[in-house]
Amino acid sequence: MCMKRAVYPGSFDPFTNGHLDVVQRSIRLVDELHIAVLRNSSKRGLIAPEQRAELISQVMEEDKILKPFRENIHIDIFDGLLADYCRKINSEIVIRGLRAVADYEYEHAVFLVNQNLYPELETIFLMSKSENSFISSTIVKEVASFGGDVSSQVPPAVQRKLHQIYHK
Ligand code: PNS
Repeated sequence: MCMKRAVYPGSFDPFTNGHLDVVQRSIRLVDELHIAVLRNSSKRGLIAPEQRAELISQVMEEDKILKPFRENIHIDIFDGLLADYCRKINSEIVIRGLRAVADYEYEHAVFLVNQNLYPELETIFLMSKSENSFISSTIVKEVASFGGDVSSQVPPAVQRKLHQIYHK
């Protein structure tokens, strides 16, 4: 039997409930999921890539739905092109979440670029649930930085981290 290995790439600065939903749903579709944190040298971000990966690992540990799947989820950090990373780990599936129509144009462009670079690479888009459709890492950071409540938008481990960053 052919093992399905998929990559779920992103900045994850920080990982939100929208990202968690994508992981919970996609792990039922594939045998092995690699959550791949982009190390973007031109964009510093709030949390360093190693810490983002560590935080995601903590979220995976604490999430009850993911408990039976923990051994099938890997958290990596990647540099450079996503297509090269997928080729390197021998994966032909990319998973992306789609929120509103606003995401469509960018995601379509990224899909076309990736297909051009790696024709066998297929992208699966998962539509976000209504309760997650407005969540973005950028807005989460903005709200958390002013002391606003983000408990409905991020997992508890991320909430603790944001509190530590902004209010200590
Ligand atoms: O969570 P994000 O920031 O929307 O994720 C974007 C990501 C990481 C999927 C995208 O920027 C990416 O794949 N970057 C790696 C560089 C690359 O492959 N670029 C070509 C496609 S734009």
